[in-house]
Formats: sequence, structure tokens, C-alpha cells
Amino acid sequence: MITFLPLSLLAVVQSFLLLADAQQKLSLDTTVALNSNNLPNPPSFTVPSTTGPLIISVALCATSDHPPRFFVTNDTSLSLPSSSNVDNLNTLEIVLGSEGFGSRALVFKDGGTVSILKDSTPTPFEMVVSTNNATSQVSYPLLGDTTSNQALLFSPPFDPQTIQQPTFPNYTFPPANFSLPSQPSSPTNHTLILAQTSSSPFNGLPRTTCAIRSQQNTRGVTTLSSSQSVGIWLKNTDGWRWEWFVGGLTPKTNYTAYTLQDGQLAASRPINFVTKSAYAVPLAPPRPPVTINSADTIPSAVSETIVSYLSNFTTTLSTLACGRDNYSPLVTCADCQAAYRTWLCTVSFPRCTEPTDNSTTSSAPASGPSASALAQSPTAAVEAVAANAAPRNPALPPFASAYAALLPCLETCNAADRACPAFLGFKCPLPQFTASNSYGVGFIDSGEDGQWGHGSTGLAQDVYGNVWCNAG
Ligand SMILES: *[C@@H]1O[C@H](CO)[C@@H](O)[C@H](O)[C@H]1NC(C)=O
Ligand SMILES: *[C@@H]1O[C@H](CO)[C@@H](O)[C@H](O)[C@H]1NC(C)=O
Ligand SMILES: *[C@@H]1O[C@H](CO)[C@@H](O)[C@H](O)[C@H]1NC(C)=O
Ligand SMILES: *[C@@H]1O[C@H](CO)[C@@H](O)[C@H](O)[C@H]1NC(C)=O
Ligand SMILES: *[C@@H]1O[C@H](CO)[C@@H](O)[C@H](O)[C@H]1NC(C)=O
Ligand SMILES: *[C@@H]1O[C@H](CO)[C@@H](O)[C@H](O)[C@H]1NC(C)=O
Ligand SMILES: *[C@@H]1O[C@H](CO)[C@@H](O)[C@H](O)[C@H]1NC(C)=O
Ligand SMILES: *[C@@H]1O[C@H](CO)[C@@H](O)[C@H](O)[C@H]1NC(C)=O
Repeated sequence: MITFLPLSLLAVVQSFLLLADAQQKLSLDTTVALNSNNLPNPPSFTVPSTTGPLIISVALCATSDHPPRFFVTNDTSLSLPSSSNVDNLNTLEIVLGSEGFGSRALVFKDGGTVSILKDSTPTPFEMVVSTNNATSQVSYPLLGDTTSNQALLFSPPFDPQTIQQPTFPNYTFPPANFSLPSQPSSPTNHTLILAQTSSSPFNGLPRTTCAIRSQQNTRGVTTLSSSQSVGIWLKNTDGWRWEWFVGGLTPKTNYTAYTLQDGQLAASRPINFVTKSAYAVPLAPPRPPVTINSADTIPSAVSETIVSYLSNFTTTLSTLACGRDNYSPLVTCADCQAAYRTWLCTVSFPRCTEPTDNSTTSSAPASGPSASALAQSPTAAVEAVAANAAPRNPALPPFASAYAALLPCLETCNAADRACPAFLGFKCPLPQFTASNSYGVGFIDSGEDGQWGHGSTGLAQDVYGNVWCNAG
């Protein structure tokens, strides 16, 4: 009599043979997604041999009370390294930190092995072997600004740029109306992911790409890839950043945002930001279907005035034999022009903010900043501007509604003052006297004349959604 194994049993036998057949291999730069309750047998992977060090990175994709442990060895006589083999020379444990990821570097002249010691709790995780550190994410995304329902957000910077230093005698400044340098040809893709802080889809999760991404289909979570961004933008010399324009947000609401970088198992650090009740800049919105003002839609009088100021400033600066007659061992004419450009743009575009609420009552909405949080943090530098008031920048049309303007940080002025030769006569108001009428004073620097640092916040804005003055 002939008997057949049931088909399902046959499949089990086959896959068992397959797993026992050969140890699985990790390929360079290929992330593997695994679960501790479904590991190969034996629970280990071989690492390719290389001459230089390789970095083995591991990231948990969900919260786990009993996550698996990971060991790596370059001792080819060990087929399943475990804690008893750890000598911190040939055999290491990849310890996962409180944020749910970890990495170790090792040289594998003859290859090696990574083993996984699972605990009882099934835990999804990711692993990659690379010449790069896939858990090196230490930076934050950046908030540009918000309106009541829109936000401009940037990825952490990459490809830092330096200010081009021209040389004497052909000391050529970047033109006043300059365009961005050529973009990197294949910038690393980043994904933006955000949600209302109070809906807390990311609460308690490991700070890892797979854990944060696992929330992308949760209600209220917005996910935007690089191809859904506005493109990359060189905001300053920190480097290029992906720029996202997010719409459909709720006014006066605290949001949490992360960015996920291709090839990184660790997510960025999170930032909070709070949407406003109204506008970002006191300018009429552009004509539909355009939804955001850009260089193409702002009134030409505004941009022409800025370009004219900068051209005239550069002309005066050029009367110095830049690059030959150094006025400072620290800064150059090009640094002066760059600092002046930042200051000019900062003072030319008023930035709207929320009026300071000094009638601290219990009317704050549940999702908004709590009264106690506001009481602890310093009050932002805000100036109330009446409807139809003549704006400080005469090139701007008066704005029909009253608004609260966020004053420029005095430090953007001091930076230009410090970077520029004295003969230009560029002077900032003194912190102790009139500066606070037109600038935010005491946030970054203390507010003592000539003293750097020791300000109340040390920053123009923080990663928790507080904004104190306009740094441009
Ligand atoms: C194993 O790693 C140690 C420490 O990095 C190194 O000194 C040694 O040469 C490596 N051995 C092999 C066979 O790769
Ligand atoms: C990877 O980068 C993180 C953060 O900078 C650091 O803590 C870790 O030690 C690095 N790992 C290796 C193997 O270099
Ligand atoms: C001066 O430098 C600029 C920019 O680097 C260059 O385009 C120009 O040809 C140079 N002029 C002379 C006379 O070398
Ligand atoms: C980034 O994503 C786009 C669209 O998905 C893709 O075409 C491009 O190759 C990616 N770039 C890199 C550097 O991976
Ligand atoms: C600046 O240059 C752009 C194109 O490069 C041009 O469209 C715009 O009109 C210029 N703006 C001013 C104020 O000259
Ligand atoms: C720049 O200089 C020109 C020529 O002297 C002058 O007409 C113009 O008003 C100046 N621009 C500004 C913004 O002061
Ligand atoms: C808030 O403070 C401003 C200036 O300090 C004051 O003029 C205004 O009356 C205060 N408003 C309330 C509601 O206390
Ligand atoms: C936003 O929410 C976070 C988390 O609750 C909090 O730490 C932060 O202070 C809030 N930001 C503002 C400006 O209220």
C-alpha cells in the first residue's frame, strides 16, 4: 500500500531541510526583517569576509519586555556565539540601548557569525551589515514654520557646504540674487512621518525606522516620501535638506514628526511643533491653485528691494581690497556678505506668531500648550501689529488684519556686525537700551553687551515646538 504524506506536512519537511541545509548569509547593505519567533535553524547568519571593519546594526520594530539578544564573532570555530563566548575582542554582544537599536564594528578577515538568542516574547527586528553605521542618526528634522493648517518641514542636513572663499585680486562675490549651487545627483531618500502629539501613535515605540514606519497606516498619521517633497533645499552651510510642505493640519495643535533615512535602521530624533491660529507671514496668500508663497509669488517690490540692498551693500564692501586687506583674522568679506544676507532676509520678512497670552486662564484647548508649560518657558519676543499698520519693511504692503510679529533675534544682527569691517558702519542696537523694541533680546546671548551665550533659552527655537525669536 502506498501512503502519501499530507501536503502541508511535506511543506514543513521541505522548509526544515532548507533551513538546516545551510546557514543563512547576510549580504552587505541588505536589511533583513525577522521575528524572534520565526528564526532560521540554527538562529544565526554568516557575515561576509572583508579586510576593513564592518558594522552590524540591529533595531527592534516593536516594544518588547524581553527582546532577543545578539552576538557577533569573527572566530570561525564558533558556529553559535553566545554570552559565554563574549571576550570583547573576537566575540561581542550587540547591546540594544533604551531606544531599541545597537551596533558593533568588527573586522571579519575570514567571515564570521551573528547569532540571535531569543526570549519568550515574539519580537520583530531588523538587522544589516554594512561599512556604514546604520544607527548613527543623532540629528533632528527642522521646522521651517507653520500656518494654521500647513507646515514647512526639513529633513536633517546632509552634504555640508562651505561658504566659497573667493581670492584676491579676482574677489567675486555670489550675486545678490543668487541661485542654489548644483544639487547632489543622488541624495539619500528620506521619509517624513508625523501625527498629532496627543494621538500618540509613536509613544513608547523604539526610535527605529521599522517601528515608526509600522504606524504609517494608523489613523491620523501622515507619511510623505522624498518624491512627495518639494525637493532638496540648501538652507545654510549645514547642508542640503529635503523640504516637505504638509497641508491639512489642525490649528493650534502640537504635532510630533520624525524623518526616516534610507539605509538607516535608526529613525531621526523626534521634534514637536505647534500650528498657529492664522498665517506664517503677513502676505496675501497666492492665487489658487498655488497654495504656498515662494520666490515666484511674493510681490516683486519686496524681492527687488532686498536684492537692491544686498547689491548696494556688496558694492560698498568691494571698496575694500577683499582677500588682501584682511580686516580680521577670523572672518572674510564673503562671510560678511553671507551674514548680512541672513540678517537682511530675517528683518525683511516678518514672521507671524501667536499673541502672548498674559491673561493665563484655563481656556487653553486640551491639545494646545498647557498653561503651566507656558509659564515655565520664557515668553517669546512678540510685537503686536495693528490691522493696516505700515509694516517696518516699507516694501511690504500693509496687511489687512492685526497680527503678532515674532521679532528677529538680536544675534542675527550681531553676527553681521561681527563678520563685517567697521568702516561699513553696520551697527546693531545695544541690548540694554533700545534693542528690545525691534529685536528679540536675551534668548541666545545673555543681553549683556558683548557677552556671547548664556541667554535664557540658548536657541531661537527648540525641538519641543517653542519659538522665541526669528533667526531667519
Ligand atoms: C577579529 O577582530 C579582532 C578585533 O577587531 C581583530 O584584531 C582580528 O584580527 C579579527 N580576526 C579576524 C580573523 O578577522
Ligand atoms: C553608531 O553611531 C552611534 C551614534 O553615533 C554610536 O553610538 C555607535 O557607537 C556607533 N556604532 C559603531 C559600531 O560605530
Ligand atoms: C573671476 O572669478 C569668477 C568666479 O570664480 C570667474 O567667473 C571669472 O572668470 C574670473 N575672472 C577673471 C578675470 O579671472
Ligand atoms: C529615491 O527614491 C526615488 C523614487 O522612489 C528613486 O527613483 C531614487 O532612485 C531613490 N534615490 C536613491 C538615492 O535611492
Ligand atoms: C532673481 O532671479 C530669478 C531667476 O534667476 C528671476 O526670476 C527673478 O526675477 C530675480 N529677482 C530679482 C529681484 O532680481
Ligand atoms: C542702491 O543704490 C542705488 C544707486 O545709488 C539707489 O538708487 C538705490 O536706491 C539703492 N537701493 C537701496 C535699497 O537703498
Ligand atoms: C498683556 O500685557 C500687555 C503689555 O504688557 C498689556 O498692555 C495688556 O493689557 C495685557 N493684557 C492682559 C489681558 O492682561
Ligand atoms: C508639545 O508636546 C510635547 C509632548 O507632550 C511637549 O513636551 C511640548 O512641550 C509641547 N510643545 C509646546 C510648544 O507646547
